Amino acid sequence: MLTLRKTLITAGCLMAVASFSHAGSDWLTGTPTEQLKTLAELQPGVGTVMIEYSHRFATMYYAAKGGNWGMADYQLKEMREIQEVGETTRPARAPMLKSFESSYLDTLAAAIKVKDWKKFNTTFHATLEGCNGCHTANGFGFIKYELPKSSPSPTSNKP
Ligand code: HEC
Repeated sequence: MLTLRKTLITAGCLMAVASFSHAGSDWLTGTPTEQLKTLAELQPGVGTVMIEYSHRFATMYYAAKGGNWGMADYQLKEMREIQEVGETTRPARAPMLKSFESSYLDTLAAAIKVKDWKKFNTTFHATLEGCNGCHTANGFGFIKYELPKSSPSPTSNKP
């Protein structure tokens, strides 16, 4: 009985998934090239990337402060990953993003590697200035990043 009910539930779910995925792609029309173009236009630009970038930046800070260096290292790596998305979808911004990475993120990585909070903290604040420097340089001087009072992530900062 239980097995039968489970089977029915599974079948129902599969049907739901099937009809969803069908309805889900109905909007994608035109030739394959046109469809690719539509999909490409939906990829996140720098503004969307920055929301994740800044979330990870603050999460990294509080992880390092709490001594969870594994988490700090992970967040920094994910920052590099998401920045690549911005470099790809907005190639004009790529050179500045790349130079920011080598000037600041590499130094943060070095501090994380040796678990040096003092070095990390100093570099972090210099990096933050670099973030806002780039905003100003690109005509977005009104975007002033401020470190939140606590971690934006629900993950633990304990080592
Ligand atoms: C290469 C230059 C550059 C660097 C470096 C940079 N940003 Fe940005 N950031 C931008 C631009 C440009 C925008 C405006 C987005 C757009 O293009 O519409 C932006 C937007 C933002 C936003 C607003 C997102 C929103 O729409 O709500 C935040 C927050 C942000 N950046 C945080 C950061 C943080 C934190 C760092 C550093 C760790 C950083 N940025 C580094 C260029 C940069």
